Amino acid sequence: MRKQIAAANWKMNLSFQQAEGLLNQLLANPTAPGANQYVVLAVPAPYLHLAKQKTNDAVNMHVAAQNIYSKKSGAFTGETSVEMLQSMGIDYAVIGHSERREYFNEDNTLLGDKVKICLEYNITPIFCCGEALYIREVEGQNDYVTGQLQDSLFDLSADKIKKVVIAYEPIWAIGTGKTATSLQAQQMHAHIRSQIAKSYSPEVADQVSILYGGSVKGANAKEIFTQPDVDGGLVGGASLNAAEFIQIVQALK
Ligand code: PGA
Repeated sequence: MRKQIAAANWKMNLSFQQAEGLLNQLLANPTAPGANQYVVLAVPAPYLHLAKQKTNDAVNMHVAAQNIYSKKSGAFTGETSVEMLQSMGIDYAVIGHSERREYFNEDNTLLGDKVKICLEYNITPIFCCGEALYIREVEGQNDYVTGQLQDSLFDLSADKIKKVVIAYEPIWAIGTGKTATSLQAQQMHAHIRSQIAKSYSPEVADQVSILYGGSVKGANAKEIFTQPDVDGGLVGGASLNAAEFIQIVQALK
């Protein structure tokens, strides 16, 4: 059974005090995620320790880094390593968010290395993919996303790719209030799954969780999450509001 995941991406937002307040609000919520449902909080690096300490006893709740570096350790000023995460008990990391790709020039090869080092350290990578608007306008989205998967993921072994979580985030829907329709999300998720099936097998493809990201809100989460190939969401803006994010967690299948 595929994991159903509601992942929050706080991005570069919130003061330490605000982060603490939001964590407290989320933890005060009496509705814990169900048996196969997971909440993952991708918090800014300075708050990882706080988030991990606070959520330690919460059921099915994990903390994620928003980025890691592709090397184990060394003279890489300003970077966060998987060794550091592992030593803190952090077991998820977002890899290749479109903002990393666009503003920090992270390419498919580097992102493939980041995925590999995460897996080496038992950290679940949430690998982001998705097309820009100009690509969708010429209906090039399927080929574009296939290229991202092929270049970064498809040299992994079958055992390893099963451990990757994929987040499909069409760039035109991120932070714009413009959500893909549930049909557009389902079509792309089915496409991604078919590509995994083609490169590995249908059994492997059936075990990979694929999240949708891009203006997910409390009001639209249910419709998107009920699509057969959508296994939850990666949520930016709406995850900064506890009530809104809790509604999204409750919309998991
Ligand atoms: P959004 O961001 O929910 O604010 O559109 C999603 C993301 O970038 O992960």
